[in-house]
This record gives sequence, structure tokens and C-alpha cells, in this order.
Amino acid sequence: MTVQETTLVPGLAGIPAAESAVSYIDGQVGILEYRGHRIETLAEHSNFEETCWLLLYGSLPSKSELDGFRARLREHRDLPERLINVIRALPGVGHPMDALQASLAALGMFHRKEDYSSREECDEAIVRIIAAVPVMIANFENFRAGRDYVQPDPKLDTAANFLWMINGTVADELITRVLDVALILHADHTMNASTFAARVVASTEADPFTVCSSAVGALTGPLHGGANERVLDQLKAIGAAENVPAWLDATLAAKSKIMGFGHRVYTTKDPRATILQDLARDLFETHGMTPAYETALALEAEVLQRLGSKGIYPNVDYFSGMVYAKLGIPTDLFTPVFAMSRVAGYLAHWREQMTDNRIFRPTQVFVGSHDAAYTPLELR
Ligand code: CMC
Repeated sequence: MTVQETTLVPGLAGIPAAESAVSYIDGQVGILEYRGHRIETLAEHSNFEETCWLLLYGSLPSKSELDGFRARLREHRDLPERLINVIRALPGVGHPMDALQASLAALGMFHRKEDYSSREECDEAIVRIIAAVPVMIANFENFRAGRDYVQPDPKLDTAANFLWMINGTVADELITRVLDVALILHADHTMNASTFAARVVASTEADPFTVCSSAVGALTGPLHGGANERVLDQLKAIGAAENVPAWLDATLAAKSKIMGFGHRVYTTKDPRATILQDLARDLFETHGMTPAYETALALEAEVLQRLGSKGIYPNVDYFSGMVYAKLGIPTDLFTPVFAMSRVAGYLAHWREQMTDNRIFRPTQVFVGSHDAAYTPLELR
């Protein structure tokens, strides 16, 4: 298909940007697959580390492949001393997503290779990035809270180790499983804005650390990964379930967006939201309700009644914020936790882009002027 130079599709909606075998969405039915595996199956039977391997290498690992991958992830969590000092020096008042973007770029300065054409070099970068991201996020949190650097625990996998590093206690099985599943659910999502950013940067043959730090920048915005943080702010602003109808009247009258609802691709409920909602129910029933959760259930019912026919349903970010808050994760770490998982997807897309690369160079619809007269400064 040739797209006319004069045809602008805002947001490139519906325009393919790459061929990809990493993940698949049917937005009308509500299907998400990673390498052909339904997300519901992975959420039930897999774990974050296995899901990373699946996304990166295209099929489920054997036991020895998975054991080796897990062991290498645990080994590569130790950060260089000077990188720890870089993270310590970052302003604690800054947003942790900015800290993560800066830390990822800095990580690359310690480990960047000239060339990523061999499988060994790619694999080493992949493991370093996936292993280091949770450690960098958790220790930015520790430093800004006035605590010392917390060493990762080599006995724990990604989810349990992250909770240990920020909360100082080993979480119970349910809490660990909830975070592990949330990581599985966020690991890839076809050609979303930050993955597209990753592929654009990859297409320049930039190194994988730069690819991931650029993509993390794209993930920060409130229309993308930043929505989960705003969902919780929104629920706090509503205050209680009985305030929902009046709040919604005012929000819709102001033509404001309801955070955690709507999606470019899904016109039905995001399957990740359904999985997280079920987990949230177990979590809140076991560990106690919160006002935010009760308000969220009331808001969901009211929005579905008023906007469901327009295809506006909850997306993954609607439940992730409430769940993360219950796990003791501070609100502004919600998007970094999303990034902790999504780097696996970025790296899978980086590998794919590099197998058949052509630098991205789209065109534009020019709407400026020509032949402008240059007026000397003193005459303006
Ligand atoms: N609240 C109220 N109305 C909405 C919402 C919403 N959250 N989302 C879409 N709409 C309406 C919108 O007003 C428009 O109505 P109309 O046709 O009458 O003007 C119609 O639905 C289409 O909306 P759009 O903004 O053109 O859709 P889009 O595909 O460009 O945007 C979106 C998708 C996710 C950016 C948008 O739904 C949104 O801003 N949602 C809130 C932010 C959010 O939850 N983001 C997380 C997305 S999921 C995680 C991720 O991928 O990062």
C-alpha cells in the first residue's frame, strides 16, 4: 500500500510501522497474545522471567534455559559503585521515571559495546538491562527517602526482590504473585507509543541501553504509562463511592478524560484489566479493602453504563495503580514498575528491528510558507 504524501493520519492510527511477531492484539474481541500464547494462560501458569524469555527468543524456554536465564538475571543485579553514586546524586524531588531514564543511559556508559552483532553481546545487554532496572528504581526510592542502598537478594526473583528492596520485608506469596502477574501483563503490547519510540531509536543502530532509555521517556506521558499514577490521584480526588455520579457529571461536562479508561486498540475491556481485577479482588479480600478500591468499582460501573456503548472500557492502568498502592509501592513508582516489565518488550522489538533494519524516516504534510522575506534585525 502506498500512502499519499498529502494524507495525514493523526497519531498514525491504523498505519503499520513494522512487521512484528512479538505480540498480537484483537481489540474487538479483547485478545492479547505474546508469541501466540494467550495472556490469560501466561498469567495463570507463567512467571515474569519465563515471559521475558518467550518475548525475547520466540518460544517457551526449556528448564535449563530458564534456570540459566534466572541465574544470570540475579547475577547481573549488582550495579557499578559509580552508577550507585549517580543515582544517589539525582534530585529526590524529581520524578522516578526521569531517574530511570537517566540511570538507564548511565548504565549503558558502563557496559556499552561497539557492536551487537553476536548473540552473546545481545544477550548480555538484555540481561543487564532487565536485571538492573528494578534495582535502579528501588534504590532511587531508598535514597530519596533518606535510606541507604539496599543490596538485591540473590535468592529472590524480580517481583519478590523489588518488593524486598523497597519495603524491607519479604512479601507473602499472594502479594509476590500479584506483582509477578502485573509484570507479565505489562511486558509487551504491540506497537504502542514507547515501543514505536524504541524501534525508531533502534533503527538508527543506537545501542540497547539508549533504545530503552528513549522508550522509557516516551512511556512517561499521562496518555501512556503515566496514566496509572493519575488513576489513583483521580480516585483520591473523588474521595468515596457515593461521590462518583457527581464527579463523572462534572468530568464529562468539562470534556476531560477519565484516567484508566479508553484505548486506541481495544473497543472492549482490556483483557489485562480483567486479569488484574480478579487478582485485585483476591488481594483486597485477603489484605483488606481500601477506599480507593471501593471508589474504583463504583466508577467502573458508572462509566460502563454511560460510555460502554462508545467502546470506552477500563484499560490495564485502571487496576494496576490500586493494586500497586496496596503492595506498598509509592504512587510515582507505578510507571517505573510498568517500565520494569516493558523493557523486556522493548528489547524483543530491538532484536526484531535489528534482524531486518531500515532507518525510520517518515514524511510529513508541509503546512508552512515558502519564499519568506528576510527582514534585517534592526527593522523588525
Ligand atoms: N474518558 C472519556 N472519554 C474518552 C476516554 C476517556 N478516558 N477515552 C476516549 N474517550 C472518548 C474521546 O473523548 C473521544 O470521544 P469523541 O469521539 O466524542 O470526541 C473518543 O472516546 C475517542 O477518543 P480519543 O482520545 O480520540 O482516542 P485515542 O485512541 O486517541 O486515545 C487514549 C486513546 C488511551 C489515549 C484515551 O482513551 C485516553 O486518553 N485515555 C485516558 C488515559 C489512559 O488511561 N491511558 C492509558 C492507556 S492504556 C496503557 C498504555 O497503553 O499506556
